[in-house]
Amino acid sequence: MSTRLRNYHAPVWDEPLIMEMGGPGRRGVVPPQPIEHAVAPEVPTALRRSVPPALPEIAEPDVLRHYLHLSQETMGMVGISLFGTCTMKYNPRVNERFAALATLADVHPHQDDSTVQGLLEIVHRLDLALRELSGMDRFVFQAGGGAGAAYLHTAVTRAYFADRGELGRRREIITTAQAHPCNPATASAAGFDVVTLPLEDEGYPAVEALRSVLSDRTAALMVNNPDDMGIYNPHIKQWVDLVHEAGGLCFYDHANFNGVMSRLRARELGFDACMFMLHKTFGVPKGGGGPAVGAYGCSAELERFLPGPLIDRTDDGYVRRENPGGVGRVREFLGNLNQVVKAYSWVLAMGGDGIREAADISVLANNYMETRLLAIPGVTKAFPHLVAHRMEMTRYSLGDYTEQTGITVADVANRMADYGIDEMWFSHEPWIVPEPFTPEAGEGWSIEDIDYWIDVLAAVLEEGRRDPETVRTAPHRQVVAQLDPSGLDDADRWATTWRAHLRKSSAGA
Ligand SMILES: Cc1ncc(COP(=O)(O)O)c(C=O)c1O
Repeated sequence: MSTRLRNYHAPVWDEPLIMEMGGPGRRGVVPPQPIEHAVAPEVPTALRRSVPPALPEIAEPDVLRHYLHLSQETMGMVGISLFGTCTMKYNPRVNERFAALATLADVHPHQDDSTVQGLLEIVHRLDLALRELSGMDRFVFQAGGGAGAAYLHTAVTRAYFADRGELGRRREIITTAQAHPCNPATASAAGFDVVTLPLEDEGYPAVEALRSVLSDRTAALMVNNPDDMGIYNPHIKQWVDLVHEAGGLCFYDHANFNGVMSRLRARELGFDACMFMLHKTFGVPKGGGGPAVGAYGCSAELERFLPGPLIDRTDDGYVRRENPGGVGRVREFLGNLNQVVKAYSWVLAMGGDGIREAADISVLANNYMETRLLAIPGVTKAFPHLVAHRMEMTRYSLGDYTEQTGITVADVANRMADYGIDEMWFSHEPWIVPEPFTPEAGEGWSIEDIDYWIDVLAAVLEEGRRDPETVRTAPHRQVVAQLDPSGLDDADRWATTWRAHLRKSSAGA
């Protein structure tokens, strides 16, 4: 192997919490008059604080230094990220600039439509672009993530069958063992019974298995295709037809859209609804559970069940309107609109041809990566007997390697971080494949990055056979070494906020 592995070491600061810094009288800015006199008279007395907020008093340079240190520790690496299963994209920084423009970022959701025409137009135009990509008749962006959009579908399903007077009978939602857990979970949350089809030799359930569970109790089918192992079910049109014959609705979880973007359209396969994740496929940051968007699209028949407000283009411009027969808000207002702006910017930058090319490149990159990865001793893939090309990702396994060395896939990922590789995605629960990992090459920036990623993996696996302790105790060059979960109840060692810290401390006292 000729690749030179990069030597990275994170900056490590022994940084106190901001609440522990400073002291009485320390100031960043000295205001010209006491803050109390600056209180706007129009703030009602009942809303005014009776005690000042418990903020630290601290000098400006100390604040600057503190946050610089934290950013060095968290942002120091910006490693090579092939975080798979969600067609996760590079997040172009220019989109952040657009979303931060005051004309977009500073508007209030209760502003009159006439004052936010530009923003409403962006939302409407992204809706049109997603209609183009899916064949659906209307999208809404209210759901705060993929799981939120899946939930919206179960709510729409409930409303649809209630409207037809069939809800008492249509109790079952069908999914597969390889579907993302949010599909069965949201079905159950909406009060349906879940029917999970096991996988068969081809990597997906047989048509006969689906047929055997269909009945007049069927409310919906919820599936992703290709699945998270990169296997595409070619019988999907037949599945949809069978579910429709039984009277059920079909929902396409498009989390793994990368490889099929502009190569297929959910509506043309017969699906009644689908979802796209703007924080994955459309270049918006994933944000660790942060401001995500599950774009939910449906057929004209289901449109009347969508949560309002909907945006219409009229002769007088763009208007928001409620949807009285809809399922009601699943999130506030129109959702995380700053993310919609970023996604729209991404779509415009890519253009139709660019999106199609990105789909092709993602499949090509994945199969290039698969060929190289499977040549590394210890690496196998899910359903190894299936030799046909996978789509935009492949689920691999280190099961054999772990049996031989005792080193787990988590150990390997930890050690790869020492060489500038971001954590990879393993698998959703339950782990059907032993010691799984699912890098997504199509998310790589260049072939050099993909090669480097593969070379680091090969080097770590080889190191694990020679020097297992070093791999097992990794990372060695990051801010923190392995997390010890025993400290999770100790407020001094782990709390998500200062208030949580105080609560935990007093609970333990
Ligand atoms: C196939 C699939 N569906 C749904 C989801 C859920 O999306 P989100 O994380 O936005 O809730 C994921 C995310 O991991 C996924 O991979």
